[in-house]
Amino acid sequence: MTAAAARARVLVFGSGIAGLTAALHANDAGADVEILTKESASDTATSHAQGGIAGVIFPDDTHAAHAADTMRAAASLADPDAVRVLVTDGTHRIAELLDRGVAFDRDETGHLARGLEAAHSLPRILHAGGDATGAEIERALLASVRAAGIEIRERTSLVDLVLDEGVVSGAVVMDPSGRTRTVSSDAVVLATGGAGRVFGQTTNPAVATGDGIAAAVRAGADVRDMEFIQFHPTVLAVGATFLVSEAVRGEGAVLVDETGHRFVRDAHPDGELAPRDVVARAIAERMARQDGRPALLDATNLGARFLARRFPTIDRAVRERGLDWARDPIPVRPAAHYLMGGVTTDLHGRTSLPGLFAAGETAGTGVHGANRLASNSLLEGAVFGARAGRAAARASHPADTTTPILAPQRPETGARDKSDKNWRRCAGGTGPFDRGELGRLMWDRAGLARDGAGLAEAAAQIESWLAEIGALDSPAVLEDRNLLVVAREIVRAARARTASVGAHLRTDDARVAQPA
Ligand code: SIN
Repeated sequence: MTAAAARARVLVFGSGIAGLTAALHANDAGADVEILTKESASDTATSHAQGGIAGVIFPDDTHAAHAADTMRAAASLADPDAVRVLVTDGTHRIAELLDRGVAFDRDETGHLARGLEAAHSLPRILHAGGDATGAEIERALLASVRAAGIEIRERTSLVDLVLDEGVVSGAVVMDPSGRTRTVSSDAVVLATGGAGRVFGQTTNPAVATGDGIAAAVRAGADVRDMEFIQFHPTVLAVGATFLVSEAVRGEGAVLVDETGHRFVRDAHPDGELAPRDVVARAIAERMARQDGRPALLDATNLGARFLARRFPTIDRAVRERGLDWARDPIPVRPAAHYLMGGVTTDLHGRTSLPGLFAAGETAGTGVHGANRLASNSLLEGAVFGARAGRAAARASHPADTTTPILAPQRPETGARDKSDKNWRRCAGGTGPFDRGELGRLMWDRAGLARDGAGLAEAAAQIESWLAEIGALDSPAVLEDRNLLVVAREIVRAARARTASVGAHLRTDDARVAQPA
């Protein structure tokens, strides 16, 4: 090995909790790390996370209890080894976040304040700024990354991975004007978040277009559990989609229908704190019974002062919409929130392709099974981001040098392999693609309830849109292509799983009784 190759060059795509943690750990392990992110560094799903981060840090809690809750929410489909790693490493990663200066909320005695969310057997959720946990974590991690001197390249989109005889040896990236260049590496860590924007109604920010997953699929990496989409039960049904944290129900708010009936208790003995798939589905069914009108979240018992102090961000959003949730129940409905699956990884973030790692929502670690436990997502980003970062730093195949800026490219059908003489082949097509139509199609045919006929229709439509994708000459077109690639994987997996389980409901599954 040459002296230059001794220090692994690691590219991390994405600057949320998983990407920043991966970068910090790869850097600590001696790698030469660069973070690439398609908007500004803090424009991430992490920055929007309200509810908090779950973890075993209180003396009355145990790793076994957290693991059991995670497994139960997952409909027992989670990988027990991944769950064990999540909960045990999780304690250390939360300590690390505290060390990095994350100001988690404290009670009047100065101890860490603990919150309860659905399907947790006891309160173990930490939050910051009331309902601004992700923003505080993002702030502290970005400060650590900058203090460590790790370079962050903003407004840099991932076009495709570069393969060299089956090994990922870098990536083609694009700037906002459509110029591309190839960056070589010993390891690439994909931490670009999820793909909620595939659905017309989602809690996810605009950046959540599945870029890392789509690039991995084009490169031939395995993906798993793509049919398992978590629909968050409660977003405001007035104005732009806005998440109303599960922590609001954890503090005692209840869901009622137009007659004032607490209908979720009919579906599950835990009522409002049942697993998310149960609550989201109960709301969707109740909405169908009331001609599509939203359910109501009644937080009036919590009082104006408490709501404003504990949930300042939500309080502002509610009041901006002309609602007073201290006085009246507010209209809510479900929206796509989280992708349980992703690029298949082992417990160290390694994918099926040498040189390629994934972490956070981009990865399919198996830790969430068929449904993620509330507030396990930030934890997953921290735990598996750290593991992927350290494993990537150990990658040791020789790095090339970075090639200069290239002219705008014609589209590619997939990842480039230098050994493939067709690597400059174009996909062709010019048709404009309407994301709104994709969002509606996925919501209607691959949303909270699915059936074989609807999924087949979605599959055909997605293929025809994919065939029409035009020249890859801007980041927006890259996102269009990524949304379609991820949608295709979601639909493919949903068609293959004909039995309902967890967040995946097949209404044509005769073996599972459908809720009334
Ligand atoms: C929420 O605050 O309800 C969302 C947190 C999560 O997705 O776990």
